[in-house]
This record gives sequence, structure tokens and C-alpha cells, in this order.
Amino acid sequence: MTEVTKIAREDRCPAMSYTEMLEGDTRRVPDYLFDESMPDMPTDPIAIEPYISEDYARMEREKMWPNVWLFAAREDEMPDPGDTVVFEINEKSFLLVRQRDGAVRAFYNVCLHRGRKLRTKSGATSQLRCNFHGFTWNNDGSLKEIPCAWDFKHLEGKDLSLPEVRVNLWQGFVMITENNSIPDFKEWVGPVLDQYDNYDFTNRYTGMWIAKKVTANWKATAEAFMEAWHSVTTHPQLLPFLGDANSRYDIYGDFFNRAITPSGVLSPHVTGKDQQYILDKMAEFSGGSDANTNRRFNASSDAVELNHDDPLQARKLLAEASRKGFQEQYGYDYSDKSDAEILDNFTYNIFPNFSPWIGFLPTLVYRWLPGDTPDWCIMEIRLLMPTPKGQARPRAVERLYIPDDEPFAWAKNVMGEALAGVFDQDLANLPHVQTGMKASGNGLMELGKYQDSRVRHFQTTMAKYMSGELPG
Ligand code: FES
Ligand SMILES: [Fe+2]
Repeated sequence: MTEVTKIAREDRCPAMSYTEMLEGDTRRVPDYLFDESMPDMPTDPIAIEPYISEDYARMEREKMWPNVWLFAAREDEMPDPGDTVVFEINEKSFLLVRQRDGAVRAFYNVCLHRGRKLRTKSGATSQLRCNFHGFTWNNDGSLKEIPCAWDFKHLEGKDLSLPEVRVNLWQGFVMITENNSIPDFKEWVGPVLDQYDNYDFTNRYTGMWIAKKVTANWKATAEAFMEAWHSVTTHPQLLPFLGDANSRYDIYGDFFNRAITPSGVLSPHVTGKDQQYILDKMAEFSGGSDANTNRRFNASSDAVELNHDDPLQARKLLAEASRKGFQEQYGYDYSDKSDAEILDNFTYNIFPNFSPWIGFLPTLVYRWLPGDTPDWCIMEIRLLMPTPKGQARPRAVERLYIPDDEPFAWAKNVMGEALAGVFDQDLANLPHVQTGMKASGNGLMELGKYQDSRVRHFQTTMAKYMSGELPG
């Protein structure tokens, strides 16, 4: 994974490339968006077994999950001393506690008496008291009280502090790992994480947070959001304003990859349409469904003379409308921000189950939590909103869990109808991916060399954990 090659255009969509769009941007674009990073990878089929095998899921729990950095919470879920978050993944339960000095500590959420979970819900507390017999710890994890202490004289002098796991705070995300040897989170992922520095994530807050059970393996579900090229079949309503086939895919090291899908341009699959069509369709897509994002699409109502020879004309107008809209809404100056960072879809993934987008829009964050069999998972979708200038960062909203028999549209008042519709289209595939994989005759998947490259990269890193090559 070390050799990085400059893209050869013959293995790319023949339409305008994302790099050419950046060259046509009305503002200066950061270098890291121009950067293309695609190692030479094999093209052989990959195995279906990791998605359907109980044994593989068990090996993931043994070899992978305890040895990676996990997105456990946003700091805006626990801003004040005494705030706690219970983060559960697989059969593990972690209790995150905001300390008086502002630090966050993470304990195994288990009573040292007879093993009851200490807390079953997030929330503020002045001490950590077990509801079974009343063993109590201070918020810093030191033992406070043992009821009927006369019966525990044998514990006097013994350290009964709650066992802890490592915590790193990064851009307002609380990252934890059980592994004491791997590097700190930023070093573990690599310098590519510097790309987040421009967007003030520490000062953002969770303005929307949806969770839903998906009856497909967590990896298959995550991978359904790693490429844009399913849009032509799965999300045809997006094609009038989404550069699906000219998305960029980049791979950096073992733990990070990205897709960048341009907005405000015609899909290469759409022909014979002009720039006005892009503006009209984008306005129609977002029309009335989401007051927060509506403003960015109002460009079509401005009486402007369109230059139909410029394939980026609609994109430029949409970006300009958004700059003004965001400035009104959040109070910051976006006048020198690139069209790309205002408009595009930056599906950035950090291994194994964390996808925090970048950009100046309210940005999406995905997290996938495996089920207790390989056949289901929970998918969480958040929107991180900028805190309006001069205001205190709001507290995160509570997670809204969609009933298992309801679609994302059930939460359309929170997500917006258009966005819920897109996720429901993805969900229409996933159960059939899982059952299809189980029915496979050859146990193999054939991948696109470029557009499915992130799937291969993800599976390659996973295989390194299974073989013992990682954590290295
Ligand atoms: S199990 Fe916690 S006090 Fe007994
Ligand atoms: Fe999709």
C-alpha cells in the first residue's frame, strides 16, 4: 500500500474529472482536495465469507474491535463535569465520564462486585453507584464506598479503581481503544486527518441523530456508502445534480479512505440537459423538506443569465447562494471558501466503522455497530451543525431510534423527506445483499477496479487483523 500512482484517465469515467472541476472552482481549493492517492491493487474476486460467517464475526470481536480506535461519543453529548455517556459495541459496555478538569475518562461499565453494569443510560451524575448492592465509585473511577464494609475487610488496601480504557479527544469526537500499545488516534490514522482542521469540528454539535437496524452485515452496510456509482440504479432522482460516475476515490494507509462526489453538476449518465435543469432539479429535490438546507438551493430563483457553455455554471451559482445562506444562518464569513467545500459530498471513512464527512455544510457522520449475529447491524446517521457565531455550543440532541418495522421516512420530520428517501433506497438493497450473499454459488464478489476500490481497501485492512499482521 505504499506506491501511489497518478491517475491514468483511461481507467476513469471519460466525463469531466473531479480534478478538472476543482480547477474551475471560483475560489482557491485546498491542496488536499487535489491530491489523488490510489495504490495499485489487485483485481481478483473477494470472499463473501466475512459478511456471513459467525466464526468471522467472532474473530472480529477477538482480533479487530479491541485493537482499533472507536468513535464512542461526541463531546457535545457530555459537555459538563459529571456528564456520562454509555457506549456499547458488541458485548462491550464503556462508561465515559466528563471530569472536573474537562478531561474525559472511559471505564469498563461494570461493577467490581458481582458484575452488574454500573449505568444503563447516559446522563449527569455526581457518583457511579451500582444499583444492585450499592458499591459506589467517584466520577474519577476511585472507589468511594462499599456497603456492609465489615464483610469486605479482605479488600482493604487493594486498588479497586474502575479499570479504564484509553481516550483521545479529536475534533470534538471522543475516541477510545482497549489497546494500550497502538499509537494515539491522530498518529494511528496519519497526517491525512489534518484535513479536518479547516472546519472547526470542535465547535460543532450533533443537531440530528438517527439510528436504525439494518438486516445486513455491518461491513456490507458500511460499504453501501463507500461508493457513489450505485446512484444510477438506486438513486436516479439524484442524477440531475450529482457527479456520481466522476466521483474521486482515494486511499491513504490502512485506516483512511475517501470518496468525493461533486454536487451541482450533471451526472455523466444524463445527456441533453442544460444548466437550468440542474438548478431546477436541485431546488425540487430539497423543496420544502428541509428549512435548514433549502437556502442553498435558491439560486434557481435568482434572475441570472446562465452561461450554458460552462458545465460548472450551476455549481458556481449554487455555491454562491449557499455562502450567503450560511453566512445569514451561522454568522461566519464563507466568502473565500471553495465551491467544492461548500457543495460536495465528502464521504470520508476511518477504519473500521466511522465516517465523518468534511466541508462547510452541516456534515454527515455515520457509525455502524455490529449486531450479535453477522446478519444485522445498527446504522447511525448524525448531522454536525456549526454553532452560530457568538453562541455557546448547544448540547447534542438525543439519539432517535427508528422502530425496526419502520423506514427512514418515519423520521422525515427530523431528517427531511429527501434525505430519508435516499437512505430508504439504500435500505431497499441491503437485506437482499445479505440474503443474496448467503445464497451465493461461488462465495465470491467481483469488484470494480476504481469505483469499488474502497471496498477492497476496507476488506484488505480487515484481513490484516484476521491474519495477525495488524495491530503490528
Ligand atoms: S453487583 Fe454491583 S454492588 Fe453488587
Ligand atoms: Fe446510496
